[in-house]
Amino acid sequence: MKNQYFEQDVRFMSRKVSLLLVLSFTLFQDVSSAPSSKCEVKASCSESASCQITRNITVNPGLKIPPNCAINVRRKGNIHTWQQAKQQIGGSKGSLDLVLQEKGKSKNGKYICQCTAVHFTRAVNLLWGSSSPNIISKDKKNELECVFSAWPLPAVVNWYKDKLPNTNRVRLPLMNGTKGIYQSLEKIRVNEEEAIRSVLRFPLGSEEHEGFYTCSVVDSIQGWSSNKSYMVQLIFICPRPQPPTTSTSMVSANKLSNVSLTCLVDSDETGCPDELHWYKNNDHVPLASSKKYNIVVKHTHSKCKQEFILNIFNVTKVDEGNYSCQWKCEYEDTTKASIVLKVST
Ligand SMILES: *[C@@H]1O[C@H](CO)[C@@H](O)[C@H](O)[C@H]1NC(C)=O
Ligand SMILES: *[C@@H]1O[C@H](CO)[C@@H](O)[C@H](O)[C@H]1NC(C)=O
Ligand SMILES: *[C@@H]1O[C@H](CO)[C@@H](O)[C@H](O)[C@H]1NC(C)=O
Ligand SMILES: *[C@@H]1O[C@H](CO)[C@@H](O)[C@H](O)[C@H]1NC(C)=O
Ligand SMILES: *[C@@H]1O[C@H](CO)[C@@H](O)[C@H](O)[C@H]1NC(C)=O
Ligand SMILES: *[C@@H]1O[C@H](CO)[C@@H](O)[C@H](O)[C@H]1NC(C)=O
Repeated sequence: MKNQYFEQDVRFMSRKVSLLLVLSFTLFQDVSSAPSSKCEVKASCSESASCQITRNITVNPGLKIPPNCAINVRRKGNIHTWQQAKQQIGGSKGSLDLVLQEKGKSKNGKYICQCTAVHFTRAVNLLWGSSSPNIISKDKKNELECVFSAWPLPAVVNWYKDKLPNTNRVRLPLMNGTKGIYQSLEKIRVNEEEAIRSVLRFPLGSEEHEGFYTCSVVDSIQGWSSNKSYMVQLIFICPRPQPPTTSTSMVSANKLSNVSLTCLVDSDETGCPDELHWYKNNDHVPLASSKKYNIVVKHTHSKCKQEFILNIFNVTKVDEGNYSCQWKCEYEDTTKASIVLKVST
């Protein structure tokens, strides 16, 4: 029943006032237009039951206090802005910086007091971010996290993905759910401070997730704005190398033509493979590039796979046989794959 006066009086109709309400003089018309109303900037409103906080507003502390509000301190002359008022009056605890207490009489002669909590804007600050570089792998789900504090609390955290760091180009934020990457957003409290936590959740790691991820917040009210970004590099770790593979187990070639035999081989961050060789039949000496052969390693679209190619020029019957590619690495089993070459006459 404490608020019944407010509700009875049309001018005090209990409105849902947004936290982000921009301070304007019209805010005070309710009381100041009433006869003998008084507005005062204070650290807190009177404890009296009829003066409870009914509104929250957020102000830019560098802006001027409305001139119709009194400040009852000795050195009043120096106080122009909200920030100066807080320094003189002494701060309140927590997220409340000051209050506006408005006292007066309503039309029907009842005494009314309205208290507006004044919150200062606070620049966006990164409280926590996932370490960089961060590792993803094929068999593990991964997530990246950013925690920002600010007032007013931002409603959105955007994530961006870039191939290279420090891109200045304009780009769109990642859409929630694209390629199975989901975002979540929650309000949390960190050391009495309101904060917002955004998490980017990846499905099982894949090489296409590699890149530079930036979480970014832009916060603003009229006449004030603050922003912050934080970047994490995501690196894909190649899975444990598997034995080489060939797309076919037999190749037929025309006499005097050139033939390419290709093995797909795995590589990884430890430097494997140390050695790659082509052998013919049961020879103990590997084939080497010459007039007859050309042996090359070619990159693929994946950093974890390479093509190991044996080119044989001008093939004849004597080139027929069983060619095998051999993959060797320290501390790993040596593996191989083979292709049989047939030459038509
Ligand atoms: C003002 O803000 C505080 C803290 O966020 C909240 O608990 C309270 O309900 C708000 N009051 C009004 C009237 O909006
Ligand atoms: C992203 O989508 C998921 C699943 O639909 C949903 O739970 C989550 O709230 C969304 N996140 C954002 C930031 O909209
Ligand atoms: C972010 O803040 C910087 C100053 O800290 C400013 O130069 C820049 O324009 C702001 N960017 C956005 C998108 O608001
Ligand atoms: C085989 O390769 C050699 C060397 O690259 C080239 O000179 C020759 O023309 C090629 N032969 C055929 C049949 O493509
Ligand atoms: C290919 O082999 C034939 C027969 O051995 C030879 O006459 C010819 O010169 C060779 N061609 C090349 C490009 O090596
Ligand atoms: C070719 O050689 C590999 C071993 O080097 C062997 O496992 C494979 O059975 C051989 N293929 C044929 C058709 O002889």
